[in-house]
Amino acid sequence: MSSGQCRLAVLVSGAGSNLQAIIDAINAGKIPQAEIAVVVSSRRDAYAVERARRHHIEAVILNSQECRAPQEFGVKLAQVLEARQVDLVCLAGFLWRLDAGFIQKFRDRILNIHPALLPKFGGKGMYGRRVHEAVLASGEKESGCTVHVVDEEYDHGPIVLQAKVPLLPGDTPGTLAARIQEQEHRLYPEAIRLFSEGRLRIERNHVTILEVPPLERR
Ligand code: GAR
Repeated sequence: MSSGQCRLAVLVSGAGSNLQAIIDAINAGKIPQAEIAVVVSSRRDAYAVERARRHHIEAVILNSQECRAPQEFGVKLAQVLEARQVDLVCLAGFLWRLDAGFIQKFRDRILNIHPALLPKFGGKGMYGRRVHEAVLASGEKESGCTVHVVDEEYDHGPIVLQAKVPLLPGDTPGTLAARIQEQEHRLYPEAIRLFSEGRLRIERNHVTILEVPPLERR
């Protein structure tokens, strides 16, 4: 973060409501030390791409036609991000698995948002509606969302922030998803703000949130 600004890459595959929440938070001055350098989409027709264009943010499409193996995707993605001096990678409904080489290169600088209270209801195949179906079938009393640091295991790295929501009588995957997304749109910008202020210390698979950024502590 040599310029003082934290340069974000937001990786998307779908509607991009979390991307929108990040854009809105930045525009409202709620994350003063961050800017979106680039949006990368695994799908050309993702509505998230349209959102980026509307806000004059560069959108790069990297999809399976251009990259056949996850490793090839990781190399190309790293090139795109390094050329734009990206400090933090934010996965926001991004469905392509990142390879170990890419994760190593951006170690402790990749965040993901997941629509459940990890470590419950995470892992391969657990995304979007399937997560909420599994939660409702389980008899749990609450669900929520998690922002975590990405490591080599699916939905696994150290947790930054979580928000809980109650399960209500008559809930469907759709009503639960909507209630959780409201929380996601608050939680992800908050996690990005903490990172951009240097307030996340990541050590031994654990995140500590510092009260004051490291420089001001001296
Ligand atoms: C979000 O609810 C996010 O938590 C989920 O995809 C949705 C994307 O919505 N991610 C996962 O399920 C990852 N395992 P959006 O495109 O509107 O931001």
